[in-house]
Amino acid sequence: MSKAVTDKPVDDLSKKEASAELERLAAEIAHHDLAYHQNDEPEISDGDYDVLRLRNEAIEARFPDLVREDSPSKSVGAAPAGAFGKVPHKVAMLSLSNGFSDEDVVEFWTRVSRFLGLKEDDALEITAEPKIDGLSASLRYEDGKFVIGATRGDGREGENVTENLRTIKDIPAMLKGKNIPDVFEVRGEVYMSHADFAALNARQVEAGKPVFANPRNAAAGSLRQLDSKITASRPLRFFAYAWGDVSALPGDTQSDVVGTFAKWGFQVNPLFRTCKSVEDLIAFYRDVESKRADLGYDIDGIVYKVNRLDWQSRLGFVSRSPRWALAHKFPAEQAVTELLGIDIQVGRTGALTPVARLKPVTVGGVVVSNATLHNEDEITRKDIRIGDTVIVQRAGDVIPQVVSVVLDKRPKGATAYKLPELCPVCGSHAVREIKEKTGEMDVVRRCTGGLVCPAQAVERLRHFVSRNAFDIEGLGEKQIAAFYADGLIMQPGDIFTLEKRDALSLKKLKDREGWGGTSAKKLFAAIDERRTIDIDRFIFGLGIRHVGETNARLLARSYGTLDHFIEEMEKAADAESDAYRELLSIDGVGEVLAEALIDFFAEQHNREVLDNLAEAGVVTLELPRQETTSKVTGKTVVFTGSLERMTRAEAKSRAEQLGAKVAGSVSAKTDILVAGADAGSKLTKAAALGITVLSEDEWIELAGG
Ligand code: IVH
Repeated sequence: MSKAVTDKPVDDLSKKEASAELERLAAEIAHHDLAYHQNDEPEISDGDYDVLRLRNEAIEARFPDLVREDSPSKSVGAAPAGAFGKVPHKVAMLSLSNGFSDEDVVEFWTRVSRFLGLKEDDALEITAEPKIDGLSASLRYEDGKFVIGATRGDGREGENVTENLRTIKDIPAMLKGKNIPDVFEVRGEVYMSHADFAALNARQVEAGKPVFANPRNAAAGSLRQLDSKITASRPLRFFAYAWGDVSALPGDTQSDVVGTFAKWGFQVNPLFRTCKSVEDLIAFYRDVESKRADLGYDIDGIVYKVNRLDWQSRLGFVSRSPRWALAHKFPAEQAVTELLGIDIQVGRTGALTPVARLKPVTVGGVVVSNATLHNEDEITRKDIRIGDTVIVQRAGDVIPQVVSVVLDKRPKGATAYKLPELCPVCGSHAVREIKEKTGEMDVVRRCTGGLVCPAQAVERLRHFVSRNAFDIEGLGEKQIAAFYADGLIMQPGDIFTLEKRDALSLKKLKDREGWGGTSAKKLFAAIDERRTIDIDRFIFGLGIRHVGETNARLLARSYGTLDHFIEEMEKAADAESDAYRELLSIDGVGEVLAEALIDFFAEQHNREVLDNLAEAGVVTLELPRQETTSKVTGKTVVFTGSLERMTRAEAKSRAEQLGAKVAGSVSAKTDILVAGADAGSKLTKAAALGITVLSEDEWIELAGG
């Protein structure tokens, strides 16, 4: 796909582009989920990951009918892919084709009649029932006994969630009645009622756990638990409406079979009806639509199915959907309410997300009191102001959105909203970065508080102790989170005072759950071992934005000692200073990195973090100077033009090995300019400043061959 589409604002996407984007995003997010959860090797930052998910969500909100079966928005809080065994579906679990208007229903009826060659007077019965907004499951019964149950998966192969399905009371362990076929796969929808969903979220809040965005996510997350005890504690339900592999059918029509399901002990939807005309179908649709809010569970449309099973067989399938069925979708649900305020949530990467606080309103049977506003550009574009009357929408499983403002009702004096420039959690500055490649401002405003912002602290601490930073054995993600929760490690310096504080504490580490005398001692020793650390690891561990290992090493080499580095970063806050110019003249340092460094050191909180580390006795080691006796040691060198005997990267690395500093531009501080063929303005400037200019050969000779 062209780059243009992946970068296009959601509102400018055509339907075709949106569909392709959703496909791309589903694959990309699934890939990163795998990298993060299974392989534990994330390839992109949490921020970039959030951007992918938000884009997916925004496109789905605009095109609810394009929401994919494998949409990332459907897989929140569940076990990673591959955690369950696979179950091949002997009869594929297909999807339904969608209709959106009365005309689509008429066309369906006509198509079916024509395909079957029916005459005008011939009776055609079509069943109608709600389309339940949950997740489908296939339950295999052998000799009436429930033996294996699976999710839909990709339709051909699902996940084995048998034990979890057994905990659902609507799913009988044994079918009731006589003449039960030897083999029968009952299919239907696992869902959660509104009341149970609300109660579950209330429990989640109490337990300090994340809440589910909607009943469908809650049902999916609950069914895909590795521990079936957790599933058992989540009140899931099941409606039976279809079947897969069967040795015999207990009837000739859809309504007969569904009727039998009820006799066998299943719940079938009480609204299920058999209609005799297209008018009946549409009347049924309208009737259920009007009752939708009072049903007590989410539905997103009506499903019509040809009643006679022999006719279903004749009609067969087109691509992945039966020709004998249609899902008539409800439009996205909207409601009008008042915007009481805008709250700011701070994510673990420091991203500030504005959330609309709404006067509670029922949208599609769910009380909505919050809606995402995405980011400040979105607020500006829609001109959303506090006090406004707004239209909110729930579309499928998407978090409620503010669609637009009812301008006629805008209160006098309502002013344009501006996102705070200070983080509401920790008070640090929150800034929007300029993207280096495009020169555009990032849509996300981020807190610069880093290590001291509680919203980000755990994530940052985890980074601080990670393998390429302090690499403290026995202090992993889990331990960091637990110590943070108990107030024992709130910032990096606390790691190094842990032993001292533990000695004075009544609740000793060795007595804590999961610890013992030996493991506590080991941890203290591992911490001690890192009290002296290479400066580049130290800088990397601070988690400054854009400072990965390479940049950390670059800075370490350029500034030598930690004190000098800090001092220079403070001075560089003044854009007119030599320190700033020098920072930018380092080959590899651009404006984005420079800004990130300056912002970081300008925050008092971050300075405290550094002071605490120093106080706790953490000492940094300068990077070894490899060859201090060379003629170019300490000199600032700039390369320009095309080099013939080595690549630019090689030249740079060799110069650095010899103790030279390689800069990107010529200034009064430059000692040597190495000019290859076709050198341009740098050469002119160097000549004007009277700087030594060497040819490539001369340089190689000076550098010792
Ligand atoms: S019939 C061959 N009936 O909709 C298709 N599906 O888009 C058999 N669904 O994956 C499905 N309520 O999860 C059928 N009353 C209903 C349904 C229903 C919800 C879901 C189901 C399926 C999806 C198809």
